[in-house]
Amino acid sequence: MTRFSRRQFLATTLASTSLATAMPFSTMADVKFPAPHSEAPRDIASNEAFWAKVASYYEVKRDIVNVENGNWGIMASPVMQSYFSHTARVNQDNSYYSRRKYWSELKPILHSVAARLAVSPEEICFTRGATEALQNLIANYRLLKPGDAVMYADVDYDAMQAAMDAKARTAGAKAVKFALPPVTNSDDIVAYYSHMLTQNPACKLLLLTHLSHRNGLVIPVAAIAKIAKSKGVDVIVDAAHSWGQINLTASDLEADFIGFNMHKWYGAPIGVGVMYVNRTRLHDIAPNMSASPEQSDSIWGRVHSGTSNFAAFLTVPEVLRFHDWIGADAKEVRLKYLRNLWVNAISHISAIDILTPNDPQCYGGITAFRLHNKTSSEDNRRIVSYLLENHGIFTVHRDGLASGSCVRITPSYYNSDKDMLTVAKALEEAARAFRL
Ligand SMILES: Cc1ncc(COP(=O)(O)O)c(C=O)c1O
Repeated sequence: MTRFSRRQFLATTLASTSLATAMPFSTMADVKFPAPHSEAPRDIASNEAFWAKVASYYEVKRDIVNVENGNWGIMASPVMQSYFSHTARVNQDNSYYSRRKYWSELKPILHSVAARLAVSPEEICFTRGATEALQNLIANYRLLKPGDAVMYADVDYDAMQAAMDAKARTAGAKAVKFALPPVTNSDDIVAYYSHMLTQNPACKLLLLTHLSHRNGLVIPVAAIAKIAKSKGVDVIVDAAHSWGQINLTASDLEADFIGFNMHKWYGAPIGVGVMYVNRTRLHDIAPNMSASPEQSDSIWGRVHSGTSNFAAFLTVPEVLRFHDWIGADAKEVRLKYLRNLWVNAISHISAIDILTPNDPQCYGGITAFRLHNKTSSEDNRRIVSYLLENHGIFTVHRDGLASGSCVRITPSYYNSDKDMLTVAKALEEAARAFRL
């Protein structure tokens, strides 16, 4: 099993400084990827030996139990090694690379990402992340008129809520924000969104966050989008957290406008996202203000990132290889398994509220909890500190749900079953420590 040591990196980097040496780091053949595995996806969720092997490809700080992997997804070592190689190569080739070679190398990468999303390559472009994709989709959506409304919920991401508010202001439309009430299954969620659409006939644009960064709730986007469409409402989907955490394609979501991330659950270098626009709807998103006239029929005219981190995008093939080595289904079942380990272990404790329903359609790997009635931000920050200081467990508090603040638990591929039982035990003690 190859780990990329600091010494190897230095050796590589030092080699690159010799101008006489042609392309010393170049070749991706230098990067060792694991051999294919043969575990059946069905049995893989609880196969600790397999996941220990996966974990050996992640260089993580082991003096804490990090269950805050919702911020971004670290690269596996072979991916990081590729990223270093690409960085060195691009840096060495300089503007010659970016002007003469980049696009021809990027194109097949874009095609492979499109194939994975089951869409056509003209329907996607790379962005620096889900934020850039979603900001452009929301800001440049063309069909909103004065008197219309946009709608979003408390589970949506703050920056996108703000973007929807800004959109409404500039279009002379109204912004409707609602609190998604407690739900027990996907049908409840569909019914509530349907009810809100009926109550707000002026709504023409709806934001849907597929997997909420606050509590981990997964909403049935396709079913809601179909209802929205039948009422003449367009949907913009924030899939920043779902793609990779859940095995899905863009077409599964039945939506025309979607923002994805690859630097969360695919473990790409920071700065890799994807924008999707259904080809029949391209002209309903205005070109980015910096687009050139020749880009008006291209999705690339809907984003203008400026000079990009070339190496981050060039690393995507290795990102996909590592992702495939683990397996998209395996990732999803493992994350749900880890989530269930801690949730089930504390389910008998009435002082702890779990904020996603038990319906497996309604969660991925992320789930938030709250100690009963501890709804303030301060309460939840204190619980985060308690878990870190007393149990060495790293989590994060999240504000913004109408029901109050909470603490989010987000395991990743390198976490073990033991980590999750450590979390469960600490939560049991927290309930006691906070006198509940
Ligand atoms: C639900 C959701 N949407 C959008 C984003 C923005 O993603 P990025 O900052 O990677 O662009 C995040 C980031 O955490 C998120 O959780």
